[in-house]
Amino acid sequence: MKIKLKSKNKFIPVNVPKIFSQEKINVNSCLNKGWISSQGSFVNLFEKQFSSYNSRKYGISVSSGTAALEIALKSLNLKPKDEIIVPTFSIISTTLCVVKLGLKPVLVDSDLENWNMIPNEVIKKITKKTKAIIITHIYGFPVDMRKIINIAKSKNIKIIEDSSEMIGQKYYKKKCGSFGDLSTFSFYANKHITTGEGGMILTNDKKLYTKCKSLRNLCFGIGKNRYDHDDIGWNYRFTNLQAAMGCGQLKNISWIIKRKREIGKRYHALLKFNKKIFIQPLKYKFAKNIFWVFGIVLKKKSGIKRERVIKMLLAKGIQTRNFFYPMHKQKVFKKLKLFSKKTKYPNAEFLSQNGFYLPSGIGIKNNEIKYICEVLNKIIN
Ligand SMILES: Cc1ncc(COP(=O)(O)O)c(C=O)c1O
Repeated sequence: MKIKLKSKNKFIPVNVPKIFSQEKINVNSCLNKGWISSQGSFVNLFEKQFSSYNSRKYGISVSSGTAALEIALKSLNLKPKDEIIVPTFSIISTTLCVVKLGLKPVLVDSDLENWNMIPNEVIKKITKKTKAIIITHIYGFPVDMRKIINIAKSKNIKIIEDSSEMIGQKYYKKKCGSFGDLSTFSFYANKHITTGEGGMILTNDKKLYTKCKSLRNLCFGIGKNRYDHDDIGWNYRFTNLQAAMGCGQLKNISWIIKRKREIGKRYHALLKFNKKIFIQPLKYKFAKNIFWVFGIVLKKKSGIKRERVIKMLLAKGIQTRNFFYPMHKQKVFKKLKLFSKKTKYPNAEFLSQNGFYLPSGIGIKNNEIKYICEVLNKIIN
């Protein structure tokens, strides 16, 4: 298929973050004063501001969203082989934290429409050994989590709410990240707020807060001997420079979320008539789409393979990313023989084979969105 387009094929990366002037002012002040490591006033300030933005009592900043998950899970003090329910269709971090801690990941399939773990599947997988559920919100919508949380509460199962992709999103009227016993976030460059790399754990529980703080900083001793460590911890500290950036970004969070939704709506309006692709709706009864990224799933009848679409888009200067690859298919977990071959996850497999996302960073321009949609509609027609 030949595509004739007027465009000069300017390269459009999958993500261009937006850095505001406040971040530069804040970071410069750290550089000028020499507060460049994890000591410094911006760290506390960002933890306070971010937890208050999410209506939570305590915030523990860490070096990444992956680190946040590891620390959050470790703080629950579970026993080897305790079961943790996670989605198979997700970033590896949500399963990796379970495996690294010697716990047992129990996978669930995802919904074909909102791409999140299916609540009834989660509930079906609960056993006496289930000690935690990592509710992982991905792409644009939160997990429909009311039923899961109610059942978890009644069985004393802890909830870790991975809200990395949902900064500022609400489930009904409450912020995502305010539901879990512990909630985790990532501030990687493609998140709604970025600090380059970084993450955060939020909780209302003082004991968990104290434990997480200790775990992120090598569990240094409290009292007489600082160098007598009381547990296996990590150096997962967040720097003052990152926090300085975070404070600047947080000042603009309302604008960022508004713009993200505008980007999503523009894509939606230009692609909704294409019958060969599935795109998510603008809202469900429990949330408006926050468009972490703008995802596309090729329908079975599209008659074209994803890899071909992606190649053709790239030839026109448009970078894309494939959807996540399911956990039960991962080389590393096959080697470890972690998951039974008998259990099937057809939706996760379909999404991972047919899904990809378009450039959706805050820095994208409206004329770029228009160009991308023109090209895509010509490739898949
Ligand atoms: C849902 C989810 N959880 C965790 C992470 C890991 O975050 P990080 O890249 O900061 O380690 C990501 C990153 O994209 C994510 O999307």
